[in-house]
Amino acid sequence: MHSKTFFIKTFGCQMNLRDSEIMAQLLGEKGYVETSDSETADLIILNTCSIRAKAEQKVMSLLGVLRKQKKRNPNLKICVAGCVAQQEGQQIIERMPHVDLVVGTQNIYELAELLKEKKQQTVATSLVDNYSIPAFIPDLGKQESEVGPVVFKKFLTIMQGCNNYCTYCVVPYTRGREISRQASHILQEARALVDGGVKEITLLGQNVNSYGKTNNVIEGNGSFSFSDLLRQVASIPGLRQLRFTTSNPKDLSDDLMRCFAEVDILCPHFHLPVQSGSNRILSLMNRKYSRELYLEKVAALRSYCPEIAITTDMIVGFPGETNEDFEETMALLEEVYYHGSYSFKYSDRPGTRSSAFEDKVEESVKAERLLRFQTRQDEICLEHNKKYVGQELPMMIEKNDGDAIVARTGTNHLVHITGEVNSCKPGDIATARILHAGHHSLQGVLKK
Ligand code: 5AD
Ligand code: SF4
Repeated sequence: MHSKTFFIKTFGCQMNLRDSEIMAQLLGEKGYVETSDSETADLIILNTCSIRAKAEQKVMSLLGVLRKQKKRNPNLKICVAGCVAQQEGQQIIERMPHVDLVVGTQNIYELAELLKEKKQQTVATSLVDNYSIPAFIPDLGKQESEVGPVVFKKFLTIMQGCNNYCTYCVVPYTRGREISRQASHILQEARALVDGGVKEITLLGQNVNSYGKTNNVIEGNGSFSFSDLLRQVASIPGLRQLRFTTSNPKDLSDDLMRCFAEVDILCPHFHLPVQSGSNRILSLMNRKYSRELYLEKVAALRSYCPEIAITTDMIVGFPGETNEDFEETMALLEEVYYHGSYSFKYSDRPGTRSSAFEDKVEESVKAERLLRFQTRQDEICLEHNKKYVGQELPMMIEKNDGDAIVARTGTNHLVHITGEVNSCKPGDIATARILHAGHHSLQGVLKK
């Protein structure tokens, strides 16, 4: 009998990528084998995202395509996991009767057991407040290959959910209340990663700055903050680089900012989503900080770490956003002079408060604003990148195929290394001199 094969397609954020890895490992432990060929797989899992309507539409159209595949192969099992699964639950099966299993964000650990159920269709989308994320030791597989460690960087989820209820955001409904993992579990997982050859860890959470604030994360009654965790992970011997994402500016503590001056393996990059430059819109978004407070945090970060690259998320066309509000967003872009940003047109999401707000901004206006924002951001990226020309920068090698190297700086800039490439392998840290700057990447040569 051949082993059952599975194929996972992941949509959305790093949290979903990590969840997909967990599902893959759990299935592997039960004898399933991962395949990159969706046509022949016995099980197809779509790990879905519902942050904006477009992400959800992509899932629905792919499910439409899979209906035909299931007709050809009635034994195929189709599983919808992640945020759309959590949000739509039973309705997915009603709209898409060829789906066998719907697995919510807190149920992924039960996946293998759920697949054994004899029922025709299963929906497992319980979302509880006192959820505790199971301890989980990642399996890195066979590590050494001719080109070095296969896996040299990894995500590590430190918390789930969100309690902030920004009015546009679906996350508190799809991922539930904010829960932090036990510090000992995180440290155990981080050590296992480093023992397995991982050189860079990115700590993940919807709002890592509030780690440890809503539940006890250490034995006894002591308090333990995100910066405490960061310092402990950073002290694991063998770890070369540490990153984290993502942060709500309202919870950004001075202690965490100080880590950028004091923790040497912490990469000088901070993703600090602002969402809008207008105080009026920030208040309608329920972000709980002002433009002024945000700018103070940016200034403080730069005083602790002058070379830090600051990036952001921005939403244009939030309900009620006027031209004046949008101009404030453009002015904030100039003032912070972001190294990069992800920017989005506001999208109504089911169950969110803003979906009921009046004064929706017209699609064409949103599109115009987005284009203006992105065009200016691109110019600013190039300006920043030009400043690196002539500098010698340390960077982690991500790929080396013998002809060309791709590396990433601590500030999260991609560098294409051409000319003479040496034997450095993924996970090594090398120094390169920057020769050329593009909008979205740099070009350089290795220092001998
Ligand atoms: N519409 C548009 N963008 C959104 N985001 C979250 N919800 C919405 C929405 N309803 C963006 C925010 C967030 C990023 C992950 O996605 O900018 O930081
Ligand atoms: Fe959504 Fe706001 Fe929580 Fe971020 S902080 S996940 S935008 S509710």
